[in-house]
This record gives sequence, C-alpha cells and structure tokens, in this order.
Amino acid sequence: MIYAEILAGGKGTRMGNTDLPKQFMMLGSKPIIIHTIEQFLINGKFNKILVCCPKNWITYMQDLLKKYDLDNGDIVVVAGGSTRNETIMNGCKYIEDNFGVGNDDIIVTHDAVRPFITQRIIDENIEASKKADATDTVIVATDTIVESIDGKVISNIPDRKTMYQGQTPQSFNIKKLVKLYNELTDEEKDILTDACKIFVIKKKKVNLVDGEVYNIKITTMHDLKMANAILMERDK
Ligand code: CTP
Repeated sequence: MIYAEILAGGKGTRMGNTDLPKQFMMLGSKPIIIHTIEQFLINGKFNKILVCCPKNWITYMQDLLKKYDLDNGDIVVVAGGSTRNETIMNGCKYIEDNFGVGNDDIIVTHDAVRPFITQRIIDENIEASKKADATDTVIVATDTIVESIDGKVISNIPDRKTMYQGQTPQSFNIKKLVKLYNELTDEEKDILTDACKIFVIKKKKVNLVDGEVYNIKITTMHDLKMANAILMERDK
C-alpha cells in the first residue's frame, strides 16, 4: 500500500497571522493546502491520502474538501501532533489502527505549505521508496552554507559541492520509520526537526531525489507573495 500524508498540523506563527493557520490561507483562487492535495489526487497512485491538521481545524478541513469537491473517500482528515514528527507519527498510527501495516507499505510525507510539488517529484519518491527505507527530496545549495555554533563567529564553512537544501516529500517504509522513532530518547525526539534525521542518527541510508527550486515552503508573508508570482507564471 502507498499512502500520502499531507502535514498540516502547524499554526504558521512566522506568518504572523495566527487566527488562520497558513495552510488555509488563499493562494490565487484556493487555499494553499487545496493546491497541495490536488497534486496528490491527480497522481492516482495512492491508496489513501491522509491530511493531518490541528484537532480544532478538522471540521474546517473537511468542509474545505467538500467545498472544492475533493471529498471522494480517498482522503481522510486526521489530528496532527504537537511537533512535525509527532504529526507524522499520528498519521502512521492512524494507518496502523485502521488498515494495518505491511512490510512494504510506504508513506510519502509532504508539507501542506509546499503547493508546487510536481508529479515527477512524487513519482520519483514512490520509486525510490521501493528501493530504500527512507528518501529525501533536495536541491543543490546555491549559497555557501556557513556554520556558526554560537551565532557570533564562523565555526565551519562546508564544501558547497556537498551541500543540499532539504525539501519535501520525505518518504519512508512505515514499519521502519515507526520502529526507529520509538527507539529515540525523549531528548533526541525534542531536537529532531527533520524526519529523515531519524534514519541518519541511526546510521541508516537515506536516498536522494531531486526537488525543484520552485518547490518552496511558504513560511512568511514574503514567501506567500513569491508563491503568488510562481502561480501566475505557471498558469500563464
Ligand atoms: N507541521 C505539522 N505539525 C506540526 C508542526 C508543523 O504538520 N506540529 C507542518 C506544517 O503545517 C507545515 C509543515 O509541517 O505544513 C512545515 O512546518 P513549518 O513551516 O515550520 O510550519 P508551522 O509549524 O506551521 O510554522 P511556524 O514554525 O511558523 O509556526
């Protein structure tokens, strides 16, 4: 079985508009999250698409699916968690409780706020997940990455040729992901902002798929303006 999990459990505080989580803000003629869900529906390879949003926004999300005529039974709305990784785990638990998990079952997790995901990226994630337990989507770093541990002076400048910027989807063998996550200590769970890092710190292989420069994550109002520009260019 192949599942998609749209991660929409956040509040979007950096957007500065806390009344409406950013995934529900409008991008062109529809909410950001609707653009994202549509790409997963168009793909047609998913047995189920989970949309994980804050508990108190579940009815709102279900109403949105009806409004945009997407409530066809392939999509289920599930409560997210207090961190991004907890949201991912809530989706895995939902699958376990409702469908059971087979050894080869895959989950393609994607930020609700990356609406410019392409069919190529989704397909390559699915294909890569058949060969590896974890897959990350990345683009090459164009700026030099500067590391500073204290935020005052440089501690390292890694070779740019080996640096990439992480995007989503991130795709996993569900059984392996849940097992490794459950083995983490509470301190490890607290500092892990990235799901692929669960595999990296356990010294497991994570394969790479090429992302796209325009597969941006909408984090701030500036990003939303950029997203509107990308949308206009795409739909010309
Ligand atoms: N996310 C999630 N569950 C959480 C936190 C985040 O599913 N508990 C999702 C967000 O909804 C978003 C994606 O993860 O689609 C990327 O996270 P980020 O951009 O950090 O979103 P927010 O946490 O909403 O933003 P902020 O940090 O500004 O509050």
